[in-house]
Amino acid sequence: MTVRTGRHFLQIPGPTNVPDRVLRAMAAPTLDHRGPEFAELTRRVLDGLKPVFDTTSPVVVYPSSGTGAWEAALVNTLSPGDRVLCFETGHFATLWRDMAESLGLEVEFVPGDWRHGASPEAAADLLTADVAHRVKAVCVVHNETSTGVVSRVPEIRAALDAAGHPALLLVDTVSSLASIEYHHEAWGVDVTVTGSQKGLMLPPGLGFNAVSPKAIEASHTARLPRSFWDWAPILDANAAGFFPYTPATNLLYGLAEALAMLAEEGVEQVWARHARHAAATRAAVRGWGLDVLCADAREHSGSLTAVLLPDGQDADAVRKIVLERFDMSLGTGLGRLAGKVFRIGHLGHFNDLTLAGTLAGVQMGLELAGIAVGPDGLAAALDHLRTT
Ligand SMILES: Cc1ncc(COP(=O)(O)O)c(C=O)c1O
Repeated sequence: MTVRTGRHFLQIPGPTNVPDRVLRAMAAPTLDHRGPEFAELTRRVLDGLKPVFDTTSPVVVYPSSGTGAWEAALVNTLSPGDRVLCFETGHFATLWRDMAESLGLEVEFVPGDWRHGASPEAAADLLTADVAHRVKAVCVVHNETSTGVVSRVPEIRAALDAAGHPALLLVDTVSSLASIEYHHEAWGVDVTVTGSQKGLMLPPGLGFNAVSPKAIEASHTARLPRSFWDWAPILDANAAGFFPYTPATNLLYGLAEALAMLAEEGVEQVWARHARHAAATRAAVRGWGLDVLCADAREHSGSLTAVLLPDGQDADAVRKIVLERFDMSLGTGLGRLAGKVFRIGHLGHFNDLTLAGTLAGVQMGLELAGIAVGPDGLAAALDHLRTT
């Protein structure tokens, strides 16, 4: 039997550490989801979500993972054979593309090198050339969790506007909402997709669609088959404080508590906290003499850092040592990045000393793996934390 003392360090880029306050809130007895107390909870949660997405329009909550929320965004707004523009930013963008194809959409997938975000220039060229407006939706993963690269959504919006193109803008914020600056309404996003298990500090199990009036309008004529994911009955039931099916009651208790915590801190402070921890992490990576995978300084992720190892080094061997010796989980390399990178999650319920402990574990793991690292990584990060 392995005896573990202290808390496991869950430093993958989601699911993230769930605060004790949220765990305690979820431990309440399950209540009647058709009773008055539940209606009050629903209204509190649905109102509390709006400032986090920065929207005045409705947010639809599903008992699902983020993948379900991806599907909901597509099936509510599009019809068989519709053309959608997607960008190959990494593993999750590729999975969303695969889903769109399997639903019968015609996908134009702009190739990428997994070190950059969606190209606003490519978007501008393709949308300007699409004079017949065959493209019905543009899909962007805001924070590509497999690479730690943020796509510049406002610049994609600007490309749509400059081309006078009416396509919907669908944005995945699964690993950026409540971590990295985001404005559903001001950025002209039509559907924002997210999940509960990252910046929202909950266990996995809730999926979300924030929807614009234009997206709701599109849902009236969209013909992809949908039933469970259909926004209309959910929005109808939500108006009275209910859901058309049994909701994930205890996760909603947790959501109410997590939203209260985010409101207490202030969402802008939450973004600033993440940006500061990300900068300290990059200082550590530079100090170790290693490279951050993200190749554009404008696109560094606030919620995770993917660390690229020199050729011939196995990133999973480092992760294994860190797990076995220091009881810390780091994110593995996904898809074509398998074995080449490990990912440090620094999002959600997190503070300076959590980061210091995390980076100390990574530094010791690198040393034990025999990877020649500069000695200054941890010191550089601590310096950043001390002085900012
Ligand atoms: C950016 C992004 N999109 C979508 C997903 C899929 O979400 P889920 O695993 O909750 O279905 C993830 C999961 O990590 C993700 O990071």
